[in-house]
Amino acid sequence: MPEPVRQLLEASQVICCPGGSAPRRGPAQSEVGLLEGGAVAISGGRVEAVGPGDQLRARFPGAQRVDLSGHVLTPGLIDSHTHAVFGRWRLDEYEQRCAGVPYMEIARRGGGINASVRDLRERSAAELVELGRPRLRRFLEHGTTTVEVKSGYGLTAEHELKMLRVIQQLTRETPLDLVPTFLGAHAIPPEYSHNRAAYVELVCTEMIPAVAAAGLAAFCDVFMEPGAFTCDETTQVLDAALAHGLVPRLHADEFESSGGAELAARFGAASADHLGAVSDEGIAALAASETVATLLPGTLLFLGKSRYPPARALIDRGAAVALATDFNPGSSPTVNLQLIMSLACSVLHMSPAEALVAATANGAAALRLSDGRGTLMPGAPADLAAFRLTDYRMIPYLYGVNHCVAVWKRGERVV
Ligand code: NIG
Ligand code: FE
Repeated sequence: MPEPVRQLLEASQVICCPGGSAPRRGPAQSEVGLLEGGAVAISGGRVEAVGPGDQLRARFPGAQRVDLSGHVLTPGLIDSHTHAVFGRWRLDEYEQRCAGVPYMEIARRGGGINASVRDLRERSAAELVELGRPRLRRFLEHGTTTVEVKSGYGLTAEHELKMLRVIQQLTRETPLDLVPTFLGAHAIPPEYSHNRAAYVELVCTEMIPAVAAAGLAAFCDVFMEPGAFTCDETTQVLDAALAHGLVPRLHADEFESSGGAELAARFGAASADHLGAVSDEGIAALAASETVATLLPGTLLFLGKSRYPPARALIDRGAAVALATDFNPGSSPTVNLQLIMSLACSVLHMSPAEALVAATANGAAALRLSDGRGTLMPGAPADLAAFRLTDYRMIPYLYGVNHCVAVWKRGERVV
């Protein structure tokens, strides 16, 4: 076997997000591991070493050097909450919301998630792969190298499995790593609107066993919220998920406080997501658990809400916070995690360092990744993003545009 080519990426700033696979909480949430004039040696698709540029140049004299002066180099961003497989955009609803109709009201009128369900059921898997491919490419172009993708627009065993197979196919076809989550409990489909219990039963006794048997998902999510699924229904679904080896995660306390964060912690969920209306008890429960608090401020901005998650209280009281886009055609059509970091800093009062850890190491923790993704520790997959900026704090500061100019996935330059 020939020796793999060793590359030495030399940047103005290297951010390595040091640490293991446990989520960063409290003061550790701001440890970005900044190296001015740093370098990263990569070989065989992995990070071999990270350190001061002069030291690594002396240690690896034969390496192929990549000059990234004037750039910040970070771990590839990790987007731990998306609904990236869908058919059409929902521009009609956007216009309604601009005119003042609330998101949950549009859902009650048969739009919202169920509009995407009707649309997706009519499309073939091949068509959904075609639609998904360029959308996923946009994640990569914005520096994101691992993306969690949920089902939840099928809502029958057949169409949920179709969605999960589309995710599997897109994983094979694109350089991204996609992490699949089963979200059969996303909405009650119209054909069960008068028999909720029967739909929950279907999710638990047919869909979850089929998804688990086919090995098509690692996680099981539920949209727990007044107007979506109740605490009892969510408990039923997550019990079934655990019985079939799927790890729980939860859409929790998005608009109203309903005990979602507490339930997520009780189930040992990988993450509790949204948390716009999390209660004090919910914050305490998350702080005392391994469950990552995943904040999606882009959704609340796009829906025109004024109540945002209490990121400061979460971090200060010891919860681990991740950031994600929630990319979907209804409540958050952005793939740009850099913009989400800006909102986290300006609106949620997180520091740029906390936001960067939230979009890398803590995103990885929310997906229970233990291979070093979200960091540039030796041995981690060589997933990196280079931003044409001289200071990492400019990522959220110079907001609203894409600063990412180069991306490596497992050592291969893909952007
Ligand atoms: O996380 N809240 C529920 N699910 C998505 C929205 C999906 C949609 O509107 O299509 C969310 O915001
Ligand atoms: Fe979501």
